[in-house]
Amino acid sequence: MDDAAIAKAKEYFGTIVDEQLQRVEQMKKGQEWIDYAQVKPIIIGIIGGDGIGPFIAAEARSVLEFVLKEEVETGKVEMRDIEGLTIENRADQNKSIPDDVLEEIKKCHVTLKGPTTTPRKGDPWPNIESCNVSMRRYLDLFANVRPVKVPKDGIDWVFFRENTEGAYIMGSKGLNVTDDLAIDFKVITSQGAERIIRLAFDYAKKNNINKVTIVTKANVVKTSDGKFLDMGYKIAAEYPEIEADDWYIDIMTAKLVDPKRRTQFKVLVLPNLYGDILTDEAAEFQGGVGTAGSANIGKRYAMFEAIHGSAPRMVKEGRAKYADPASMIRAAAMLVNHIGYPDRAKKLEMALDICGNYEKKLVTTGRDTGATGAEYAGYIMETMQDPNLEERWEGYIKG
Ligand code: IPM
Ligand code: MG
Repeated sequence: MDDAAIAKAKEYFGTIVDEQLQRVEQMKKGQEWIDYAQVKPIIIGIIGGDGIGPFIAAEARSVLEFVLKEEVETGKVEMRDIEGLTIENRADQNKSIPDDVLEEIKKCHVTLKGPTTTPRKGDPWPNIESCNVSMRRYLDLFANVRPVKVPKDGIDWVFFRENTEGAYIMGSKGLNVTDDLAIDFKVITSQGAERIIRLAFDYAKKNNINKVTIVTKANVVKTSDGKFLDMGYKIAAEYPEIEADDWYIDIMTAKLVDPKRRTQFKVLVLPNLYGDILTDEAAEFQGGVGTAGSANIGKRYAMFEAIHGSAPRMVKEGRAKYADPASMIRAAAMLVNHIGYPDRAKKLEMALDICGNYEKKLVTTGRDTGATGAEYAGYIMETMQDPNLEERWEGYIKG
């Protein structure tokens, strides 16, 4: 027995438990949701990120300025560019988010973020934590909301992925007890489970959706997933008009592929890692992860992002201006909805559907054989201005 290693591990475990108990106390204070109607100006930060990020972020910014033209003019909304969330700068400072950048982000209410590189073992960068994961934690963005729609197949899902705990919270804090023993930690708290599950049920209620599905692996991961599942049914009892059911992640993954069963799912709520995996699978039906937007929502802050990578090769080969800005613009639509302009968000989404899925008058190919990102953003804005936008969209959707 390696007594020294055991003693060190015990001490380390103690610090982790301590940190988590402090987090629980923080959550118990039960922060209020920000009310954007009362905020002026609502500050929107545009974070370019790495690779093609700054290129597509600039296009998304133009679209946002177009959609919120009046609000920008009257000073209800202010837009800011946030520099420095690049892999070079993060590597230099050996921080997943450099302090000065985090400070700027915290001055905003919401941010729209381009893709950022997550270093892996073997990369030329230090193995710093993913800045997505840190930002979710630093800003307490506990809900990762990911809608997936394929109208022609009857698919209309909204995933509520827990975003601040589960297997992720300690992802960079595992312990090599000895050369042979590696231990990671997975954390579920009552407060953390409750707030994401409640958000999922509230969303269902507000949108007249009569079903919420809780996904865990509580038959095997009994303690933490067991807590999540128990909390799911406890909260479900407060929403008698909504049917709640639960599935294990393995069979859930299979059922999403089953055309007869998958249309029965509507709102799904699940711990962090299962949500990470299942939403990639789900997005594939819609055209791949590149087509999906993701909203990271907390009570005070929110961050919206495309979930594709930063494509550094496109930049190296001089093709960045041909990068497809569509999924970042989809994230911008979620942002517009979140800060209180659902009708305009809906219009922008319709234009994105028409341009990207049906009409395709312009397409991006990532090269000079297709449209530039700026041309494509122009196409979307032009489409939005069509007074018959809604009819046009419905015509396509009904096929
Ligand atoms: C996502 C991504 C991130 C995650 C990565 C980049 C750390 O896969 O947003 O789903 O695992 O959460
Ligand atoms: Mg993922």
